Amino acid sequence: MRAKRTSLVHIIYFSRLNLSADPAKRSEQIAEIGRVAQKKNEFSVITSFMIVEGNFACQVIEGERSSVHETFDRVSADQRHRDVQINEWREIAKREFVHSFKSAQRNTANDGLFAKANLLPMLQRGTPKATAIHGLCLALQNDAMSRQGIDHLFI
Ligand SMILES: Cc1cc2nc3c(=O)[nH]c(=O)nc-3n(C[C@H](O)[C@H](O)[C@H](O)COP(=O)(O)O)c2cc1C
Repeated sequence: MRAKRTSLVHIIYFSRLNLSADPAKRSEQIAEIGRVAQKKNEFSVITSFMIVEGNFACQVIEGERSSVHETFDRVSADQRHRDVQINEWREIAKREFVHSFKSAQRNTANDGLFAKANLLPMLQRGTPKATAIHGLCLALQNDAMSRQGIDHLFI
């Protein structure tokens, strides 16, 4: 018999980034967030995907209830962003993200997916839907996976 699973939850939030206006510095700051987040999330068995769109960050964090709680407490206190708002915090049947931490910004290869989701106006109004953030995170993950030829694992 399969072992009983611990309870899995996800949090979806968005925030305004407090990062440098200089593109090179900003990329380095985002990379630095990722380096630490990846290690910490691996340790806490968290899986996560973050979108950087304009001056906003949106992130899905999934894992065991107390780990997600602890991680979000830390993330929401971080001075590198502000106005952190939770869109959705609920139990999930299974994980949907593969990596402990991945982030994506608009680029020429994924521009179509960002354009289709059209998150920026919703973020500017302060009313992004959790399904829109979640959908774009999944679409970006699937896109990256299929570029690596491993999309058959995620049908
Ligand atoms: C937008 C954003 C997303 C972040 N995502 C994560 C994350 O998924 N996991 C994590 O451990 N830290 C994340 N961090 C970093 C944490 O806020 C924190 O700096 C880091 O976990 C180290 O915490 P400590 O200095 O208290 O050990 C994020 C920070 C920002 C600004």
